[in-house]
Amino acid sequence: MAHKIAVIGGDGIGPEVVAEALKVVRAAGVELETTDFDLGGARYLRDGTVLPDDLLAELREFDAILLGAVGTPEVPPGVIERGLLLKMRFELDQFVNLRPFTRPEAGIDFTVVRENTEGTYAGEGGFLRKGTPHEIATQGSVNTRRGVERCVRFAFELAASRPRKHLTLVHKTNVLTFAGDLWQRTFDEVAAEFAEVTTAYNHVDAACIYFVQDPQRYDVIVTDNLFGDILTDLGGAVSGGIGFAASANLDPTRQAPSMFEPVHGSAPDIAGQAKANPIAAILSAAMMLDLLGEDAAAERIRKACAASSNLNAPTPEIGDAVAARL
Ligand code: NAD
Ligand code: IPM
Ligand code: MN
Repeated sequence: MAHKIAVIGGDGIGPEVVAEALKVVRAAGVELETTDFDLGGARYLRDGTVLPDDLLAELREFDAILLGAVGTPEVPPGVIERGLLLKMRFELDQFVNLRPFTRPEAGIDFTVVRENTEGTYAGEGGFLRKGTPHEIATQGSVNTRRGVERCVRFAFELAASRPRKHLTLVHKTNVLTFAGDLWQRTFDEVAAEFAEVTTAYNHVDAACIYFVQDPQRYDVIVTDNLFGDILTDLGGAVSGGIGFAASANLDPTRQAPSMFEPVHGSAPDIAGQAKANPIAAILSAAMMLDLLGEDAAAERIRKACAASSNLNAPTPEIGDAVAARL
């Protein structure tokens, strides 16, 4: 049976890299029944809609969602990012954003488990006296015991399944004494259930040093939404480049479809020039195949990507080269 996949190419390089991901999955012999969704900046500029609720309801019926990237300079910041990407992550309750980084020749092999529905992303806050000299803007960080615990528990389970069985909590407990305290206490309590997992804690600023100077120390990292966003662009940069960084937005309960997308954005600076590296999108599609039970195809795609990682060529040629190795 073909897997039913909702495809959102989105903006900028999004459609360019998603086309290569679908090309490679099909070359691996996996049958997909894809439905394209016209969502992103072009749609918004045409009719003012971002993600209408009837389309969101339609998305729920798919086995998975494959997304390129969204956001464009022609639309004010946040309209598409919050209205489309975050709306899907929140409404489909994809509470884990899983972002793996590997660079075998450098001994780098770690995965970031980023909380995906709370923190500063939740949308708490607003303006008072906007536009006056006394203007106030607040943007709070929402951390629920349930939200933190389910993410931390996922991270411990993941760490327990890996050879090194090591989990690092990254936060800023020395300053964010409310949110950080909730995260640290939750982490310590869940740790008691996982005696086989060794643990560490890094403040996020120090983690930035270690990401650059000693990324080999990490196995699994768990962190909040905003720290996870920033750290995973850095993770991409230190493990081969942002063009190789894949991600999965998971609802581990499987009540709603999960969404797979590169870590990078729509890259307006190189859009339409066939300069985008499609490997991040291809590896995101491989993560999708893991979830769909197509583990063997996913592994073959990862090997083919690794063998093509030195290729500097136009976007479709990189897709062709990966497909040819399958
Ligand atoms: P970006 O990730 O789009 O680009 C940052 C830099 O990385 C740019 O120099 C770009 O050329 C380069 N780059 C990104 N992907 C690449 C690839 N596959 N191959 C080669 N180079 C690549 O981040 P940005 O410029 O800060 O954001 C651009 C837009 O994308 C914004 O609207 C932002 O909100 C949005 N965005 C969307 C997502 C997403 O859809 N998941 C993620 C990040 C940013
Ligand atoms: C990412 C992106 C998104 C995020 C934006 C576009 C909302 O940067 O997926 O890393 O901040 O989560
Ligand atoms: Mn990001």
